[in-house]
Amino acid sequence: MSLLIIGGTGTLGRQIVLQALTKGYQVRCLVRNFRKANFLKEWGVELVYGDLSRPETIPPCLKGISAIIDASTSRPNEQDSLKKVDWDGKLCLIEAAKAANIQRFIFFSPQNVEQFDNIPLMKLKYGIETKLKESGIPYTIFRLTGFYQGLIEQYAIPILEDLPIWVTNENTSVSYMDTQDIAKFCLRCLQLPQTANQTFFLSGLKGWVSSEIINLCEQLAGQSAKVQKVPAFILKFVSRFFGFFEWGQNISDRLAFVEILNVENNFSKSTFELYKTFKIDPAEIIQLDDYFLEYFIRLLRRLRDINFEDVQKQKNLII
Ligand SMILES: NC(=O)c1ccc[n+]([C@@H]2O[C@H](COP(=O)([O-])OP(=O)(O)OC[C@H]3O[C@@H](n4cnc5c(N)ncnc54)[C@H](OP(=O)(O)O)[C@@H]3O)[C@@H](O)[C@H]2O)c1
Repeated sequence: MSLLIIGGTGTLGRQIVLQALTKGYQVRCLVRNFRKANFLKEWGVELVYGDLSRPETIPPCLKGISAIIDASTSRPNEQDSLKKVDWDGKLCLIEAAKAANIQRFIFFSPQNVEQFDNIPLMKLKYGIETKLKESGIPYTIFRLTGFYQGLIEQYAIPILEDLPIWVTNENTSVSYMDTQDIAKFCLRCLQLPQTANQTFFLSGLKGWVSSEIINLCEQLAGQSAKVQKVPAFILKFVSRFFGFFEWGQNISDRLAFVEILNVENNFSKSTFELYKTFKIDPAEIIQLDDYFLEYFIRLLRRLRDINFEDVQKQKNLII
């Protein structure tokens, strides 16, 4: 099976690429910047030029491809490209996939996407889910929770840099996942015909409230967090008012994410069934505490190496 992966340079996409290569798939990545994607080439990927905001570049990338894994989305710092990438580009991709007789099209959306048509990206994602289902292409949609990788920026770095952490709803627990595990589900579905034409709600095994994540990071960092508790409606007002400024934009993005994840869900009931369907042992799943522990160990090692290099440089200067 030859795979076309879109978004291979992204947080989730690169994990899918790595695991697909390890499993022996022929992997082609549609990329818009060869220099940025050079690491994929070094891993053994065939790179082809394509840009979702330039629809004419899409169809040639599908030649000889049997399955598409679309892990792309417009970058938050490219606000103008939202409709071009997540709507026009995706519609063109679906059309091209149909013409190329693609055997499986895998797409990712955030959880609860259908409940947030007031958030532009959510509205587009839900619209594309619908178009994909109507297209007749065998599809698999994964509705995802938050990534562990995003928590580093949200919690670990602010604690390490003594910056405030904005918290809204203390009681909502979210079952975050490592992108490595999401990649595992994604590739496994290619081997399971019964996963075609289905939507799966993917989530981790344990729910975490923000105070638990903050406590964990405080312990590992040996530093306390500056927690700013703000009711969601005030945060919404502030972000609308100060949205032009970078920090206002950050809050606004955070809020959108917090809102989406705050909707109660029934994941826990179906999670074990899901792992059974995909033949994935829950014991294989990376736990959040282990993920953070590894991150802080790597960081401390790096800091130790930098200190060591500094000492060596100073010694050399003295000599
Ligand atoms: N992050 C989360 O917590 C989360 C939660 C739920 C669902 N999801 C979904 O999971 C998927 C992966 O998310 P992610 O966080 O891994 O994404 P990401 O890190 O932001 O990566 C986005 C990818 O899309 C590519 N891309 C952007 N514009 C493009 C264009 N015009 N043409 C071609 N490629 C383009 C980027 O390429 P460049 O490197 O060239 O920019 C990059 O590879 C997305 O569908 C997202 O909606 C994410």
